[in-house]
Amino acid sequence: MLGSAAAAAASSSSSVVPGVIVAKKYIASILGGTGSVGKNVLRSILADQQCEKVIVISRRPLDKDDDFQKLVSFEDPTGTRIIVKVCDPLDEMISTNTNIAFCTIGHGSSRNATKDDLMKVDATIPGKFALACKDAGVSHYCIMTATGADINSSWNFFTRTGGGGGYYNHVKGVAEKLTLDANISYTYIAQPAALLNSPHTPKVFDYVPNSILPMKHTSATINDIAKGMVKTTIDAYQNNRTGVVRITGGIPISLSSSEE
Ligand SMILES: NC(=O)c1ccc[n+]([C@@H]2O[C@H](COP(=O)([O-])OP(=O)(O)OC[C@H]3O[C@@H](n4cnc5c(N)ncnc54)[C@H](OP(=O)(O)O)[C@@H]3O)[C@@H](O)[C@H]2O)c1
Repeated sequence: MLGSAAAAAASSSSSVVPGVIVAKKYIASILGGTGSVGKNVLRSILADQQCEKVIVISRRPLDKDDDFQKLVSFEDPTGTRIIVKVCDPLDEMISTNTNIAFCTIGHGSSRNATKDDLMKVDATIPGKFALACKDAGVSHYCIMTATGADINSSWNFFTRTGGGGGYYNHVKGVAEKLTLDANISYTYIAQPAALLNSPHTPKVFDYVPNSILPMKHTSATINDIAKGMVKTTIDAYQNNRTGVVRITGGIPISLSSSEE
């Protein structure tokens, strides 16, 4: 865990010329990079020329994962920018200098999870990742939770562990609290509603127009959500912003990808 070295690495790869802002190079990491959202996040980070490397933290080797290898050969043809680190997320996750991190891990299909497993995968592991990131020197961090996240929300017999239900919202609220407890200089909490084009989202959401929904319940595609999360976080890094930012709803999260 070399936090100060990470800061040195970041500052050594940038320079300041009076009147000219030079973008800083950085190393990013992602937990959940094999998921439907995470793969899009990975693509968006790699599209940024300032990104030198992305560390993909995975619980399993990815050399035989055809989808992932296709992504690697397309997005990283030289094979030098994506590094896969295989580890149990409850063990040591990051030991490499890292500046920016993204957490998109979760039960894609929460209704099939037990209470304990949902808490572990969607809150405990993200909390541990945030702490590991802080130790590794991460200054800018983004976690995706969900609209309605609320630590005070409680178990509901009918919704059980399903998305949008009381327990799910509680778990997402716990994830946010544990993440903020890590005290990273800049933390962006993205709270989307329905993720379109995700294999886990019921198709019926494709037919619900955003125009009839409150902004916090608007939907967006996984690609637009990922682009928005990456752009907002990288902009904050490049402009040395600090603090906690929460953006709720698909339209507001994805719109930030085209804002200047
Ligand atoms: N669908 C929606 O409308 C919606 C809306 C708001 C928020 N969300 C949230 O979006 C999040 C992720 O969605 P997604 O579609 O990207 O999910 P996904 O495609 O199922 O991807 C989940 C990711 O988490 C990893 N993972 C799952 N269980 C793990 C475990 N026990 N240990 C280590 N890694 C584990 C997976 O790794 P492997 O590849 O190794 O399995 C994968 O990288 C979920 O938390 C969900 O609650 C969804």
